[in-house]
Order: sequence, then C-alpha cells, then structure tokens
Amino acid sequence: MTMDSEFDSDFYADPYPLYARWREEGGVRKVPFPGGLDGWVVTGHADGKAALNDPRLRKETANEIFLTRMDGGDSGTGGALTAHMLNSDPPAHTRLRRLVQKAFTARRVAGLRPRIEEIADALLADMEGRDEVDLVRSFALPLPLLVICELLGVPDADRVPFRAHGERMNDGDKEALFSGFRPMAVYLADLVRAKRKEPGDDLLSDLIRAQEDDDALSDQEITSMAFLLLVAGHETTVGLIANGVRTLLAHPERLAEVRDDPSLLPAAIEEFLRHDGSVNVATLRYTAEPVTIGGTEIPAGEFVHVALIAANRDPAAFPDPDRFDPGRDTGGHLAFGYGIHHCLGAPLARLEAEIAFGRLLARFPAIAASDAPEAWHHALRFRALASLPVRLRARE
Ligand code: HEM
Repeated sequence: MTMDSEFDSDFYADPYPLYARWREEGGVRKVPFPGGLDGWVVTGHADGKAALNDPRLRKETANEIFLTRMDGGDSGTGGALTAHMLNSDPPAHTRLRRLVQKAFTARRVAGLRPRIEEIADALLADMEGRDEVDLVRSFALPLPLLVICELLGVPDADRVPFRAHGERMNDGDKEALFSGFRPMAVYLADLVRAKRKEPGDDLLSDLIRAQEDDDALSDQEITSMAFLLLVAGHETTVGLIANGVRTLLAHPERLAEVRDDPSLLPAAIEEFLRHDGSVNVATLRYTAEPVTIGGTEIPAGEFVHVALIAANRDPAAFPDPDRFDPGRDTGGHLAFGYGIHHCLGAPLARLEAEIAFGRLLARFPAIAASDAPEAWHHALRFRALASLPVRLRARE
C-alpha cells in the first residue's frame, strides 16, 4: 500500500487511528502528500512542541518554496500577500510581531464583544423557523468572517462579497481560491490607503499608527498582515465552532450541562481545541540544516509538518486522549501552536467561541444531531467540516 492511499475518505472523517499508529511506530516519518509538499509528519506531543520551538526549522524558505511549487508565486500578487509574520523568521518576525502586538491588544479584542454578540444573534435570527440547517453555512462559516471584517474595519457594504467568496471556497471551488487572491490584494491595499487618509477605530488604523523607535509598518506590510488575519482567523475558527458543536451533539449530557451553566463553556472550549482542533498540519516549516526530532534525523532541505491534532491525542500528554472530557486538565495543548509563532488571535478565537456556543445553545436549547450525514473537506491542512446538518428543535 502506498502512503498516499492512507489519506482516503476514512482519514478525513477520522484521522486519529492512522495518527495513533504512526505515533506508535515512531512518531516522525516521511509521508507523500497529495498535491506535493511531501514532508516529515510529527505526531507526538513532546516532539511536536520541540519542532515548533526549533529555530533551525525555518518559515521563510518554506513559504518561498511552497509558492514556487504550488502556483508559481502567490498567484500573481508578487508575494505581496504572503510576506507576513507567519512566514517570517527572526529578526523580521520579531519586528513584525512586536509592531502588530501594539495594535492587536487585549483591549481591542475585549471591545469587540458587543459586536460579536450582535453578529451571532443576527445569524441565529435567520435560522429561526427552520427545523434543520447546515450549521457550517448558516453559522460557523459567516461568524468568524464577519468578525474579522469588523476587526479590520471593512465597511458594511463590502461584507456581502466577502461572505459569498467564503461560501464558494467552502464549496471546494478552487477557482474561487485562486481567482480570489488578486482582487483580495487589490481590495485590502485600497482599504489600507483609505484608512491612512481617514483613520477609524479599527485594527487597520491602529496598525497604521503603531510605531516603535522610528520604525513603523509599511502599507504593504499592513496589507499582508490583513490578509494573514483573514486566512489565519477564518477557517480555524469555523472549525473550532463546527467541530465543537459536532462533539456536543455526540455527547447530549455534556451539551445540557454547558447549556444550563455557561460558566462551564471556557473549559469545554479548551477541550474542543484539545480533542478535535481545527489545525491539522498547517504548520509548514523547512529544515535549513539536518535536525533530529524524536530520534529521527531529518536531512537539510525538507518540509516538516507538525500534526497538531495528533499531538493533542498523544496518551503521553493526555491520558485516555480520545475521550472528550471537559473536566480534564487541557494545559499544554498545541491547538494554537507553540513558541514564537503561537497564535496571535487566540484570545479573539476563545471570545468568539464563547459567544457562539453561548448564544447558539440559549436560542436553540433542543438542538440535536440530524439524520443527514455530515461531510468533511478532503484537505489535509485543516480538519474542516464541509457541512454539519443539525436539528434545531425537538421532533414533534
Ligand atoms: C498563528 C491556530 C484563530 C491569527 C497560528 C498558529 C496556529 C493557529 C496553530 C501557528 C502556526 C504555526 O506555527 O505554523 C489557530 C486556531 C484558531 C486561530 C486553532 C481558532 C480556533 C486565529 C484568529 C486570528 C489568528 C481569530 C486573528 C484574527 C494568527 C496569527 C498567527 C497565527 C496572526 C501568526 C503568529 C506568528 O507568526 O507569530 N494560529 N488560530 N488566529 N494565528 Fe491563529
């Protein structure tokens, strides 16, 4: 059997048995990836943490090679969109992260609460009166996208095309993915210029204002950062909401507990992240020199992918790892990564999830699994539901 065939429909529906086997067989192995980018997959928790924290595993080179191999260079935008902190190494990364951190503050995130609640309530109001909905399309997909628009200061009128674009991408429309790059670059660059002329109370305007020792972000750096927020903050949060709802529907007694006592939600959300997080192997790195991880030597010039969802089910880190247990100690889970690239948006993702689950369960207390099947995207980077049919009310 070739390794390729192991990434089949069964894998996308439930990747955990294969990862458990790989972990037992050594934890670090070279795997052919569908669509290229063959690389070394790390499945253990300690190994994953070490790899994420290893300065010999580089981001810049990984991105350059990725772009050249995948589509000949950023789909015609000359790298303008991808020259951001997640694709940078120190010292460039240190500088970008420090400047961005000045704008993306805890206060800005907390200040979004009332708008996130409004956005969630409006989406839930649209679901009223229906017996069944696809929770991905109706709720999990639009919510994080609209929140990022809010964060960036995208005007209301421009949000409809953003949403339509997100839906086309979710439908697996590859055209939408690539044809979307150039218009997105142009749109975001225009938006940055507009904010420079007329700053508002939003993150983009704060990024324009962010300064340190005579240093500031250029328009291109801000455009690229805005694009990073869109891609890093969207699909990941969709997955946290959708995968979490799916888990709750499979555990009705846990669902009733968090519905009746929302103070249990933060712990449940950490366990959603640990038990079935949304980032699978979207952690691309590249060996600038030979690196030994978990006793396996990886030569120079190779891709390394830390499978975060596998690391979070390592029994050495989390006893009885396949069990969903909101009461367990989830400390040290790797769903948001680790080290210098640890997710900058984690506080926002946690806030969004708390509001999303709280409002959903309060409005539809009888929500339950549907008879219709769910569908998973056949994409490796993220663990992503394409659709999740749910019943909103009890059967008559
Ligand atoms: C980085 C996960 C939501 C912004 C990362 C990384 C992970 C991650 C694993 C590190 C990747 C690596 O090391 O290669 C998640 C998950 C989310 C989420 C699971 C939701 C549940 C968000 C949101 C935003 C965001 C809402 C912002 C709007 C970022 C940024 C980075 C990042 C800017 C790059 C940080 C750096 O390079 O220093 N995220 N993320 N993320 N995330 Fe998130």
